[in-house]
Amino acid sequence: MKINNICCIGAGYVGGPTMSVIADRCPHIQVNVVDINQERINSWNDSNLMNLPIYEPGLDQIVGRCRGKNLHFSTDLERHISQADMIFISVNTPTKTKGIGAGKASDLKWVEASARKVASFARGHTIVVEKSTLPVRTAEVIQQILQVEERSGKKQEQGPTFDVLSNPEFLSEGSAVKDLEEPDRVLIGGDNDEAIEALSRIYKKWVPEENILHTNIWSSELAKLTANAFLAQRISSINSIAALCEATGGDVREVARAIGSDSRIGARFLDSGPGFGGSCFKKDILNLVYLSRFFGLSEVADFWGGVVTLNQWHQHRVSTLIVKKLFGTLASKKIAVLGFAFKANTNDTRESAAIQICKDLIDEGAILFIHDPKASPNQIEIDLGIKPLDKCIDGSNSKETSKDGTWCFASKIIDAADQADAILVLTEWEEYTQINWLEIANRMRKPAWVFDSRSILKYEEVIHAGLNFWRIGMG
Ligand code: NAD
Ligand code: UGA
Repeated sequence: MKINNICCIGAGYVGGPTMSVIADRCPHIQVNVVDINQERINSWNDSNLMNLPIYEPGLDQIVGRCRGKNLHFSTDLERHISQADMIFISVNTPTKTKGIGAGKASDLKWVEASARKVASFARGHTIVVEKSTLPVRTAEVIQQILQVEERSGKKQEQGPTFDVLSNPEFLSEGSAVKDLEEPDRVLIGGDNDEAIEALSRIYKKWVPEENILHTNIWSSELAKLTANAFLAQRISSINSIAALCEATGGDVREVARAIGSDSRIGARFLDSGPGFGGSCFKKDILNLVYLSRFFGLSEVADFWGGVVTLNQWHQHRVSTLIVKKLFGTLASKKIAVLGFAFKANTNDTRESAAIQICKDLIDEGAILFIHDPKASPNQIEIDLGIKPLDKCIDGSNSKETSKDGTWCFASKIIDAADQADAILVLTEWEEYTQINWLEIANRMRKPAWVFDSRSILKYEEVIHAGLNFWRIGMG
């Protein structure tokens, strides 16, 4: 099973960067990334690499090196599926919004549609790789769809025949390129040794062999959901302790350092913040909860469900304490919100804690001036579901602040801070650590507050500038 041609269905946050790195490391393989979204494909093909649809440090350089040589972006699914020896399915798998399992189970309609396209267009023997995060036993669904075509009297002399593998992705946004180039592990689940070896050979071009793990297909699917559940659980755990620190006089950073130095616990993923966001943690846990209930394991379902419940409670806790500190009312108060992306170094705002927190503050009557280096005003508008004030969309300070409960985009931090009653840091962008607090304090309305939900600001500098200061988990 020699792989000369790869097709990836889905040119999103996973498909785009993953295939770019494969193309970069395997110049002998032609890699075609296909998507039904013409606009997204146009952006991937934009001659200006600054306009790629996804912001990831280092990605533009890789795309610049490979695009047009062995990396191609297209909407021609039929052509590229029919030419491929290996097809990755890397489409979105959000939580179902209606029907059985609504609000919990994964919506597999895009995966099913992809499998049907593969069944229709594939030629010869094709290895189909699940890259999307999927509920356990989804491979069975894909196999069933493909088998219909295998059995249907064959339109071609040879094939199509298929092997299905699970190869979940563990990259984190913001560090996707590094995670792909130096993964802790690559996981391949399947039962055909030849197909597993064909996929392993690709990764072996740059990943040490001992880091390529082989399991059965169901373990692989379940390991992906479990990894995300464990990571999210750590964040809810530390955020719960942050609340306790604030109540008791502890400092969550000190507690995290103390427990993190125990090698059994480990130091990473213990930063208390405004609550976890991102497209996957919540949906993957809800999926695990759904599966557990489906199999009659209600205690297991309740255990994992608690991680999401705590996260939601924590986000509201942040907005509630801001209202309390600002004398119980936000009506007509201006708040500068620094950061809207769900974490630094990405333009992704999906499930960002900023969405809920900003909505809460707007409900209380605040006028938010939202700054983010990468998240677009259009995306923020979609996420909040509220049109911004026209006058300050370009960052110039609006006098139109008589309107309660609204927002606008500020392209400069200083404009966001002008006459603000408070500054709220929601994303840990590096540039927020460089703020000149004396300059900012001069522009704010007093008494003024700084709320640091990411624990990235220097306490002494903010206090020295004459501002009140609150930091997550600092009692
Ligand atoms: P995404 O929404 O950014 O991209 C998915 C793409 O698939 C979209 O561009 C969409 O147009 C395309 N698509 C949907 N149906 C299609 C079809 N039938 N044919 C062609 N294209 C189709 O999603 P993502 O963030 O890349 O996530 C993809 C999967 O990877 C999900 O299952 C997710 O859980 C998982 N995952 C995501 C991350 C992450 O950091 N975002 C990390 C690991 C795993
Ligand atoms: C996460 C996992 O880390 C990846 O391994 C996985 O592949 C991916 O989900 C996925 O399946 O989609 P990602 O969501 O991109 O990656 O980002 P993380 O770094 O995990 O951060 C998730 C959220 O937790 C962010 O809102 C982040 O700010 C928050 N977080 C993270 C904290 O509040 N504290 C921490 O210590 C770490």
